[in-house]
Parts: sequence; C-alpha cells; structure tokens
Amino acid sequence: MIFYFTGTGNSLWAANMLSAELKEDIKNIIDIQDEMFITDNIIGIVCPTYMGDLPWIVKQQLLKLKIKPNTYTFAVLTSNMGKSGKSNDNADKIFCTAGSKLCSFFDISMPGNCLISSKEENEKRLSEAPDIIQKIINDIQSRVINYKSKGVKADNNFIKKSFFYKNKSLLQLSPLKKFKINKDCNGCGLCEKICPTNNIIIKEKHAVHGNKCAACYACMHWCPKNATRV
Ligand SMILES: Cc1cc2nc3c(=O)[nH]c(=O)nc-3n(C[C@H](O)[C@H](O)[C@H](O)COP(=O)(O)O)c2cc1C
Ligand code: SF4
Ligand code: SF4
Repeated sequence: MIFYFTGTGNSLWAANMLSAELKEDIKNIIDIQDEMFITDNIIGIVCPTYMGDLPWIVKQQLLKLKIKPNTYTFAVLTSNMGKSGKSNDNADKIFCTAGSKLCSFFDISMPGNCLISSKEENEKRLSEAPDIIQKIINDIQSRVINYKSKGVKADNNFIKKSFFYKNKSLLQLSPLKKFKINKDCNGCGLCEKICPTNNIIIKEKHAVHGNKCAACYACMHWCPKNATRV
C-alpha cells in the first residue's frame, strides 16, 4: 500500500509511478478515517516537503496507522531542492508509532510550488524525474535498507511542532500570510474541489478560506483566474 498526499500534483505523479511498477494500491492520506490496521508486507509514504519536514496533515493522518513489526516501509519526499530536512526522522517516528520502523528514505527534486525555480530548471527536473523514480523503484523492489531507525515514537507535540500547523506560522512568516482572494474570482469552485483539507467554500460566487489550511498551494497554482494570492 502506498499512502500519498499532494497539493499541486508532483507527489501524486510519483505515487502513481511507484504504484504502477510495484503493483501496490495507492490511497490518499486524507481518506484515512479512523485507526487503520494494515497487514501489507510493504507500506510507503509519498508526499511533499514543507519547510524541511512532513506536512502536518500527513503526520496527523498517518498516526492513525497500525502495521506489522516486520513490514518493509519507505518514504519518498518530493521537494524543490531535493533536500527534505528532518522528514526522514519524522517518517521513522510515524512508522515506529505504527508498530514498525522506517527502512528506506528517498528524495526527489521536482518543480517548486512555494519558491518558484526557473522554467529551465523545472524542465530539467521534470526530464530527470522518471529515471530517479525508476532507481527508487529498483531499490524498493530489492528491499534496500538505507535508513537506520532511531526507534523513537512520536510525542504529544509531534503534529503541533510542524511549521504550518493550523496556519500558525502562515500568519507570522511573510510572504506566507493567509491567502487573499481578489475580485477576479468568479466562484468557479475549482479551488473548493481540489483543496485537500476542505478548507474552501464558495459563498456568493466568491472563494472563502477557513482555518485548516495545509499550506499546499494547490488553490493558488490551479486557480484559472489567478485570483488566489499570498
Ligand atoms: C508551504 C511549502 C513549503 C515548502 N517547503 C519546502 C522545503 O522546505 N524544501 C523544498 O525543497 N521544497 C519545499 N516546498 C516545495 C514542495 O515540497 C515541492 O514543490 C513539492 O514537490 C510539491 O508537491 P505536490 O505537488 O505534491 O504538492 C514547499 C512547498 C510549500 C507549498
Ligand atoms: S479557483 Fe479561483 S476563480 Fe475559481 S472559485 Fe477558486 S479563487 Fe475563485
Ligand atoms: S486552502 Fe489552498 S493551500 Fe490551503 S490546503 Fe486548501 S488548497 Fe491547499
């Protein structure tokens, strides 16, 4: 089973590539409802890096998992710079809490959706990504272990310590303030549909944001009217 979270689509692409080659089902992390016991022999996480960490929503959802002690586990983090900070240690904490540990960790550099790279750089990353993913697939198929588990479980502050938890730091860190919807919004509803945390509703033909934003930037990048700005 491959659990994924995506805002703008990079991690969904990676999850689909892994799923097709490894013949593993994929499940959106957002769809995990209650505590979930999975007996699969292989379990993976695919998601974006947010400020050198896993997104808070990923942490929150995956702490509902229970897995077998000998499960082969992996995490693939997509990011702008190909460096995902403490995401590996925090993925390990999630798997340790679930009943196993992290076996393998992989980074893949994709077009950034927060700091935007040049068109040339993004094209280069997109052209290199299939080969990088294939190498990751080969490693997973041969059950590579490239991470030494710290054996530490998530503590009570695990989710709260995330940079963008409940918008807290969005309000503090310029230019990542709360999104502003300008007059070009025509209420088309696309952002409401794609928002992974159901944080947007359309009121009187205008998008209105709530307070459970995961900072994924999907609403901003996908808006056909360019009406969502930071
Ligand atoms: C709020 C936010 C924070 C980010 N922080 C980082 C970061 O610390 N390092 C990095 O390399 N990329 C960072 N990125 C870029 C994303 O990790 C990258 O574009 C990712 O592939 C997006 O995945 P998605 O398309 O599946 O949502 C950040 C993006 C966002 C929206
Ligand atoms: S996608 Fe853009 S135009 Fe459509 S409702 Fe959202 S903000 Fe408005
Ligand atoms: S409000 Fe926008 S940035 Fe926040 S979770 Fe929804 S789509 Fe992502």
